[in-house]
Amino acid sequence: MAPLRLYINVDHVATLRQARRTDEPDPTAAARLCEDAGADGITAHLREDRRHMQDADIDALRMSLRTPFNLEIACTDEMLAIAERLKPYQVTLVPERREEVTTEGGLDVTRATDAIADAIARLKAANIRTSLFVDAVPMIVERSAWLGAHAIELHTGAYAHHPHDDRPLAALQAASKQGRTLGMAVHAGHGLTVRNVAPVAAIADIEELNIGHSIVSRAVFVGLDRAIREMRAAMNAARGAR
Ligand code: PXP
Repeated sequence: MAPLRLYINVDHVATLRQARRTDEPDPTAAARLCEDAGADGITAHLREDRRHMQDADIDALRMSLRTPFNLEIACTDEMLAIAERLKPYQVTLVPERREEVTTEGGLDVTRATDAIADAIARLKAANIRTSLFVDAVPMIVERSAWLGAHAIELHTGAYAHHPHDDRPLAALQAASKQGRTLGMAVHAGHGLTVRNVAPVAAIADIEELNIGHSIVSRAVFVGLDRAIREMRAAMNAARGAR
């Protein structure tokens, strides 16, 4: 099976810092530890309300990372301008609502298609790889390919939150196959933990996972290095890799 990349989302290192609005813990320093522990890339979400990541964090990550930087942003002019200036390796377009605790659903690519198509065109013109964070729904996957995205990131929240329901996993399997058949790279993420990652990691069409909250939470007890190595071991075991 093809290798599975692990991108670590360091947003919640910034969440902890913003609880006191001080200068620690530093998400860029955390990202370096993630890279040392074998992360294939680093993800950060610059939200419009700047609740965790700040503009200076995004600049610092862009300057210091040794691995690819996946910047998550909403599809707004302000955020697209930041991406065009920074030129991260990849931009993942995500839906954003100010009152939500976290990104609750995928991007609705059946609406505001002109805005999404324009965003993809702007990012491509800046040589940035584009990914759309979407739900595992056939019409949504089809529309994502039609819009010309390089990749889709499948929202794994329904699977993670309903572990005893087979349907969300079946939907992820089908959407992954569909996405690959339509010529896109397939990523996945949201709510994944060491305990639930295996069935998702075992989907051969998925090539990248984005994981944040559970790793930062585990790191409080065992440190980032061990938290990441545990996740990698769980992924490799599911993938049949060593
Ligand atoms: N992928 C995307 C697009 C996200 O918005 C998030 C949450 O910020 C994640 C992955 C990671 O989710 P979690 O923090 O639950 O691992």
